[in-house]
Amino acid sequence: MDKDRQPRRAALVTGASRGIGREIALRLASEGFDLTLAARSPAPLTDVAADLGGPGAVHTRAADMSDSRQVRELVHAHDERFGRLDLLVIGAGVGVSRPMGEIDQKGLDLMLDVNLRGPITLVQESLPLLRATASADPDRGARIVAIASLSGVVSEPGLAAYGATKAGLISFCESVTIEESARHVSATAISPGYVDTDMTAWKRGELHPADMLAVGDIAELVLALTRMSAVATVPNIAVTRSGDRIWRA
Ligand SMILES: NC(=O)c1ccc[n+]([C@@H]2O[C@H](COP(=O)([O-])OP(=O)(O)OC[C@H]3O[C@@H](n4cnc5c(N)ncnc54)[C@H](OP(=O)(O)O)[C@@H]3O)[C@@H](O)[C@H]2O)c1
Repeated sequence: MDKDRQPRRAALVTGASRGIGREIALRLASEGFDLTLAARSPAPLTDVAADLGGPGAVHTRAADMSDSRQVRELVHAHDERFGRLDLLVIGAGVGVSRPMGEIDQKGLDLMLDVNLRGPITLVQESLPLLRATASADPDRGARIVAIASLSGVVSEPGLAAYGATKAGLISFCESVTIEESARHVSATAISPGYVDTDMTAWKRGELHPADMLAVGDIAELVLALTRMSAVATVPNIAVTRSGDRIWRA
């Protein structure tokens, strides 16, 4: 089909109000995607939507990833609005940095819910739409990209529970790919070290923001995945920072 006459692709991005998710949304908009942007708080999402350029339509939706009902409603709202899902970006995440013995139950539940349970529900709910989109465009297929963490690949002091949720997310992405890639749906975890966002404000005293990864470094990888054929499955992309050690966040 003539490239100009191809239907516009649609993406759903969680965690789109700030940091890595916001940058991914900005770049997908410039690439011409229709977008559903999600986060808990509605006002910052409206601001991000106003900052987007590009020909696509933008829909914002407040949804708490720790609430399965809201996760399911988010997918239905995207489906009703766009009727296709070429790319699901799981950007929402939370982290508590504390020695393992000091992580309280509330913090643990929050990380498990937002970083692992929510993404699994989100993917389950999105699968019919991802499969339908991939079946209509088998060359490109449909992709899931989950922002995991380098702490899910190698252990990092103080990030035991957070890293465990991200290791689970990486494993889940692999399982999705082996179960779904025959239907042209695959999942990729992107596992960065420290990225300069609100989430790493606590780290700035010991690690200068200029020495952290930039949100654009991660967003560019997402764009690259959207340009690849469905035959290419990419399980996990580790992104580490320059310096004298590779495997540290
Ligand atoms: N920054 C890093 O160094 C780093 C490194 C590796 C991986 N990551 C991962 O990358 C992802 C993005 O991180 P970031 O640094 O961009 O974080 P951030 O700046 O703190 O942004 C987090 C985003 O997630 C949303 N969010 C948080 N809790 C949520 C919930 N319960 N339900 C729905 N949305 C929620 C936030 O919006 P609301 O607050 O409005 O909900 C916001 O849009 C996370 O999964 C994080 O674990 C970050």
